Amino acid sequence: MVISESELVEQTLSYLKIRDIRSQRKAILRLSDWLGRDRRNRPLGYMNQPSAMHAYLCYYFPRQAALFRHISITLQKEHIFETSGKLDILDLGCGPLSATAGIMQTAEVGSVTAVDISRSMAQHGKNILSGLQSDLKDQIHIVKHHIQRFRPRRHFDLILVGHVMNEVNVRHFSVEQRAKWLTMLTSFLKPGGVLILTEPALKSAARLNQHVRDKLVSQRRTQVCWPCPDGRTCPLLIEAQDWCFQQYEWAAREPISTLKSALPFKDNILKASIFVLGEKPSQNRPRVVSDVMKTPSGRAWYICTEDGLEELTVLGAKQKNSLLSKRRGEALSWKEYLRFE
Ligand SMILES: C[S@@+](CC[C@H](N)C(=O)[O-])C[C@H]1O[C@@H](n2cnc3c(N)ncnc32)[C@H](O)[C@@H]1O
Repeated sequence: MVISESELVEQTLSYLKIRDIRSQRKAILRLSDWLGRDRRNRPLGYMNQPSAMHAYLCYYFPRQAALFRHISITLQKEHIFETSGKLDILDLGCGPLSATAGIMQTAEVGSVTAVDISRSMAQHGKNILSGLQSDLKDQIHIVKHHIQRFRPRRHFDLILVGHVMNEVNVRHFSVEQRAKWLTMLTSFLKPGGVLILTEPALKSAARLNQHVRDKLVSQRRTQVCWPCPDGRTCPLLIEAQDWCFQQYEWAAREPISTLKSALPFKDNILKASIFVLGEKPSQNRPRVVSDVMKTPSGRAWYICTEDGLEELTVLGAKQKNSLLSKRRGEALSWKEYLRFE
């Protein structure tokens, strides 16, 4: 059974007994600060505060789910991951199982091992998702554990690590240790399975992610199969002001669209720093890694290729039509790329 975003939101509101989603506006703004610019001031265990918990479930839960829905669709489209049968998922730092909820919008889920230091959010997620798919009630196993010390006991089709690594201080979990831990996790993937890691598109979190990616590539013990071309080092680490992230449109439906219109931030774009590990080699396709920039000779982007960064300028009207719509993170076909030569 595949669920829709609207079903997920309706189920969440009815579970929380919230009639008007706009009542969550203030709590969402507070939480948004704690997750972004005011991170240093957020209280320990902030997610256990009822207002933060409600705000996360009403807004960030479907938002994160939409991110994972998009990633799942893209990976299937680019033949990085193919779904057949019911998926066994390991969701690490699961929160309310948002990442799993996104996968459930694209594929059938058979079982979930949900790991988090906070059991309560995971329990809310379990209640909501099993309200939508009753057979999941006995198939979602919550494990209260620190991710960095967690060792799986079985194999999975998908391992999801959504927006949690940045919550673990790099002084206690170094780049080297992260790479080692991720490599260990990939040995628990079933054939054809993938590990999807996302982090906020903030400079510090994304650059840390890029360093982990480089470490994994240099050790050659697991494949970074998406989104990076097969370059040895990430070119967006050379200049201190750069960082790499991907973006997707979030065309949310009611009632989320009503809530979005009540929020002061424009939030139609989902941004995240993402990489995927698995057995397939990278397709090595050139990928857009910037917004469109205005330059004296026309409009340009930066493209990441296995040889590093390239600036491509859009010159002709024909190119304009098909190429200006490319978003950050999107791959170019070789045909599109060669039109610049
Ligand atoms: C921002 S939330 C992300 C939740 C979910 N993965 C998502 O994408 O919506 C981060 C989650 O990581 C959990 N967390 C933070 N540090 C952790 C650790 N060391 N081990 C396990 N979970 C952790 C928090 O309790 C919280 O639920």
